[in-house]
Amino acid sequence: MEAAAHMTQKTFTVTDPESGRSSALPVRSGTIGPAGLDISALHKDLGVFTYDPGYATTAAVESRITYIDGDAGVLLHRGYPIEQLAEHSTFMEVAYLLLIGELPTAKQLEEFIGNIRYHTMINEWLLRFFNGFHANAHPMAMVSGVVASMAAFYHDTMDIHNPRHREIFAHRIIAKLPTIAAAAHKHSLGQPFIYPQNSLDYASNLLNMMFAVPCEQYRLDPVASKALDLLFVLHADHEQNASTSTVRLAGSTGANPYAAISAGVSALWGPAHGGANEAVLVMLEQIGSVDNIPKYLAMAKDKSSHFRLMGFGHRVYKNFDPRAKIIREMCHKVLAALGRSDNPLFELALRLEEIALKDEYFLARKLYPNVDFYSGVIYSAIGIPRSMFTVMFAIARTVGWVANWQEMIADPGMRIGRPRQLYTGATRREYLDIRKRV
Ligand code: SDX
Repeated sequence: MEAAAHMTQKTFTVTDPESGRSSALPVRSGTIGPAGLDISALHKDLGVFTYDPGYATTAAVESRITYIDGDAGVLLHRGYPIEQLAEHSTFMEVAYLLLIGELPTAKQLEEFIGNIRYHTMINEWLLRFFNGFHANAHPMAMVSGVVASMAAFYHDTMDIHNPRHREIFAHRIIAKLPTIAAAAHKHSLGQPFIYPQNSLDYASNLLNMMFAVPCEQYRLDPVASKALDLLFVLHADHEQNASTSTVRLAGSTGANPYAAISAGVSALWGPAHGGANEAVLVMLEQIGSVDNIPKYLAMAKDKSSHFRLMGFGHRVYKNFDPRAKIIREMCHKVLAALGRSDNPLFELALRLEEIALKDEYFLARKLYPNVDFYSGVIYSAIGIPRSMFTVMFAIARTVGWVANWQEMIADPGMRIGRPRQLYTGATRREYLDIRKRV
């Protein structure tokens, strides 16, 4: 039985120095990590809100899915360290773990994979949506639009309070994301759509749908499939990040879950979030050579330049992002296996990390490489075009989004998310007829 948060005997008392009124704020603790100060009585007792722009110190939910210790560089999925899952598991097994809460038996995993395989095709009418996009439409725009449109196809069979409907939704969206992603890629190439092959594993199926053509047999490279599967494991879930929080907030209104996932895709696209993997490659190509690194580091430190070292820094990790370490090691292995060890972008990324991590600005702010810093080197090496990098992230993170959405909807205490604000606008004033305005 999984532990739940529980009220401790401890309370923090906040007192208004002017009125002398106090509010006793109980401490709610989880299994590991910082406890939460329950402030739900604060506004009633003292007429004030808490103020936490960017939610840097706000636990908005209770969750049992993923735990991050940013100072120690720890990432656990249902208690299992990401390093062990990366070494021993697969994306489908991690998907089961995140959704169900336990590692599957061989039979359970086989059944789960079968359920996913059964849903890989998309409705032919949904396929026609792609014809409405320009050839140069960004794949993330196409994916978020087509995923939202799935609500139109499954709206009537989606009772979010029916566990079986929620399970079918999970299978459908996890199964169809790669098919939709590949269709977006084929549309941008002007090539025919390739149907899923249920004889292939999840990552191989995606590569086949992206790169096969009807006129010849596509040779799958097991190195590429394994590397992509591992990248999916590393991107599957990450606590209450911006896109997961978006899915939760959208889903908290009772909206169709396909619409909520589409909102997550859109949030992930931002360069401060999942869009960073594409931005890192643009940055590395901009830097071009090791000699230019000092110039770009200076720009990253110059607030007026608005330039940031993409793939560096993290809201939670103030140490190495454990996923970045694993991906960096993967780069060495994958590039060697593909006979591309002399990859100039990877060499540049390694030197950039080395130089930045000796720079006081980055050290003082605890800015380390995050998951996006090296992933693009591997995506490029296995032939994924840069515009599809964030789509790869979205495919993997769909599992985390669905796990968080299910956890929220299944919670009988779920309420619509509705943050408050610190108002700094105009006080009340009377309407002025336009003839009197100057
Ligand atoms: C992901 O939340 C998640 O878990 C996200 C994610 C996931 O799996 O879901 O891990 C995936 O989104 C990883 C992050 C990818 N984004 C990038 O790589 C973009 C570059 N990084 C940043 O923009 C930034 O570091 C963020 C957005 C990641 C974090 O921003 P914060 O927490 O709001 O930090 P901040 O902007 O307040 O920065 C603190 C200081 C500032 O300087 P000072 O005002 O203190 O002088 O550090 C500086 C910032 O200017 N800073 C950087 C920097 N990141 C922060 N300076 C230069 N380059 C950077 N990359």
